[in-house]
Amino acid sequence: MANSQYEYVKSFEVADEVMPPNVIVVRVEGRDFRRFSDVHEFEKPNDKRALDLMNSCAVAVLEQYPDIVFSYGYGDEYSFIFKKKTKFYQRRARKILSLITSFFTSVYNSKWEEFFPQEELRYTPSFRARVMSCATLEVLQTYLAWRQNECHVSNLYITCLWMMIKHKKTYEQAEEILKDTQRSERNEFLFQQFNVNYKKLPQIFRLGSCSFMTQSEDTVKYTTNGSPVKRMRRRPAVFQCESISKQRFWKEHQSLAVELGPFENEIGKLNMDFIRSFSFEDKLMPFSWIVVRIDGCHFHRFSEVHEFEKPNDERALNLMNSCAVAVLEEFGDIVFAYGVSDEYSFVLKKTSTLFQRQASQIVSVIVSVFTSAYVAKWKCFFPHKQLKYQPSFDGRAVCYPSSQILRDYLAWRQVDCHINNQYNTCFWMLVKEGKSKSEAQRILKGTQTKEKNELLMHKFNIDYYSIQEIFRRGSSVFRLKEGQLKTVENSIDYLKIISDVVDGRYYLEIFGPLLHLSEQVNVTAIFGPDLAKPGESL
Ligand code: GTP
Ligand code: MG
Repeated sequence: MANSQYEYVKSFEVADEVMPPNVIVVRVEGRDFRRFSDVHEFEKPNDKRALDLMNSCAVAVLEQYPDIVFSYGYGDEYSFIFKKKTKFYQRRARKILSLITSFFTSVYNSKWEEFFPQEELRYTPSFRARVMSCATLEVLQTYLAWRQNECHVSNLYITCLWMMIKHKKTYEQAEEILKDTQRSERNEFLFQQFNVNYKKLPQIFRLGSCSFMTQSEDTVKYTTNGSPVKRMRRRPAVFQCESISKQRFWKEHQSLAVELGPFENEIGKLNMDFIRSFSFEDKLMPFSWIVVRIDGCHFHRFSEVHEFEKPNDERALNLMNSCAVAVLEEFGDIVFAYGVSDEYSFVLKKTSTLFQRQASQIVSVIVSVFTSAYVAKWKCFFPHKQLKYQPSFDGRAVCYPSSQILRDYLAWRQVDCHINNQYNTCFWMLVKEGKSKSEAQRILKGTQTKEKNELLMHKFNIDYYSIQEIFRRGSSVFRLKEGQLKTVENSIDYLKIISDVVDGRYYLEIFGPLLHLSEQVNVTAIFGPDLAKPGESL
């Protein structure tokens, strides 16, 4: 089946390349970490374990992505700075930020137990991110100075606040007392009231942490007479530094200057125009469907390492479906999702104002919620398999102005599912029969749907259409009324519901009524809808 009639939908994707010589900075932030820290009983005002976990995630990010040369974080945020000449993912902003957010989330979940051995993860954390582009090193310097200043200001504030709360003030009373106070007053206040010298508090709270690659000596092996053999190795290390935006700091760490250039001048006061530019963000077109498509990063390797069944692993697909359900449960604005292989498309209603339609926030949060669920639910779907390394997903957001085009988008993905599945089914049957991979490729080259079906039937006695629908057609997730759950067991029921609602025309028209039905949130994964043309099979 040709997919070309639908491929025009790709042209709706807009370029978001960060043009050189801009330096790319990705800032990842915890989503609703106030609640997360309450539920998990983080120590107030700062929990060293939580900061160490964040630092450990940052180190993992640096090890994973060598193009990141420096990172700085405090509280629940971390900024990652790419080398000036990076070509990482063709400098595409959303691809980069989603990948970093996803990997960061994955590591945070995986390492939780190491840092909080006594504290069960009660719900999965998620992060959001955005890209800042710094046109000059002065702008980058300002960015770093700004973040470190924010660390200081917010830490001083929460230190005062929690000292008062510990001394029997309510949260609101403490807030009232601190309202309109200056930094020097807060310092003084801590000292006078609680005998706390702010400067003596741990640096990790006051200054935040930075991490970057350093050379260190490592024992790689021992000789026969027991003496150690040492080598210099590059690895990320975490530091607390007084002022990361100062010339002196960059001079002391020449490797940073090599990748980014030296800081020529000292910046004085923070330039508010630069800071305004850091808060600027592109918004997605209003009154258009937003589709966020996420895709497993290097899942070819991931599926090999975790020995997924070929060509399809039902457990892996069910895990993906379950994560999509978690995403729909989290965001009421997502009305439909369609998944196949290592990808999932999430459709947000036209009128959605989620994150004021800011693309990077929407993409990164969806990717993060999905990744968190993937790591957390792994053991339910693969109880006898350890997760050998952290999976990650990238994401993009595309606007489709009409239901017709959105329908074509989904049809495009489903036809792709069909083409790939049919090819892979033939390919792996040939390989299982004893053909080499290149022989199997040669046999299948240039064959059409009909020929592949015949090959399966005559050679292997397989009726392609008897293969499970989850493999042939992908999966959909959407909300249904409670009563409908019983009736939707196969694609015929599914199509009946759709035609009941929209008189048999395009099923996407059901978004309106479905939205209404979604009041009674019941999310389920349903297999086998034919997205190309309701009522006809592929
Ligand atoms: P990028 O997305 O570009 O990072 O590469 P990728 O390796 O993830 O490849 P792509 O997304 O194009 O394709 C997904 C890959 O995941 C497939 O080619 C398979 O190798 C693998 N995969 C996904 N689902 C399954 C499954 O159920 N079984 C097996 N064996 N492999 C799967
Ligand atoms: Mg992939």
